Amino acid sequence: MDQNQLKRLAGEAALTHVRDGMVLGVGTGSTVNCFIDALAESGLQLEAAVSSSEATTERLKSIGVTVSDLNNAGTLELYVDGADEVDAHKRMIKGGGGALTREKIIAAASRRFICIVDHTKVVDVLGRFPLPVEVIPMARSYVARQLVSLGGQPELREGFETDNGNLILDVHNLSITDPVALEQEINALAGVVTVGLFARRGADLVIEAQGSGVRDW
Ligand code: 5RP
Repeated sequence: MDQNQLKRLAGEAALTHVRDGMVLGVGTGSTVNCFIDALAESGLQLEAAVSSSEATTERLKSIGVTVSDLNNAGTLELYVDGADEVDAHKRMIKGGGGALTREKIIAAASRRFICIVDHTKVVDVLGRFPLPVEVIPMARSYVARQLVSLGGQPELREGFETDNGNLILDVHNLSITDPVALEQEINALAGVVTVGLFARRGADLVIEAQGSGVRDW
């Protein structure tokens, strides 16, 4: 099975947690796109969805799902999203698609977070995938210097602006031995909007697609 088929498998498996009439939080990325495609084919009728990006909003609307503002939705029962990396403690690196801030807000506002991945995303130690950090444009250089002092090599994501009008620094070669502490440390830097470490609030369930099928853990 190729990676796209595995993403499709993970997306389909998440549907078993979705109920008619739900207001569902929906993440961003190619795995989530597979989930949205599977949702369209399932016949499930959501009351509405809360979306983590303009791209996801467009895709949800194209299949007839009403997209609500989180401010009007209250606490969400369920959030479904992908990840760039996930470890055995269900802590993640996210933001490869640049939607990390809205993703982290929806994750925080949801009772359950189901992470859908193919097996290539599961790691022993987070950090092989460059860690995305969303920054206010005027803070770019300052934050980059601070990230260097933490041992990383930040690289500006060229030609990219987030849905919030900010920039992304992708930080290479960080040794993430304590994800919770690093999340707090980077979040505390002036000018950082969000770091793509999802450690303090990780996933509640991981749906991992492998060649042999799907494993929930
Ligand atoms: C977007 C994300 C995505 O969940 C992450 O990048 C995984 O994407 P994909 O499913 O395309 O591999 O965090 O900001």
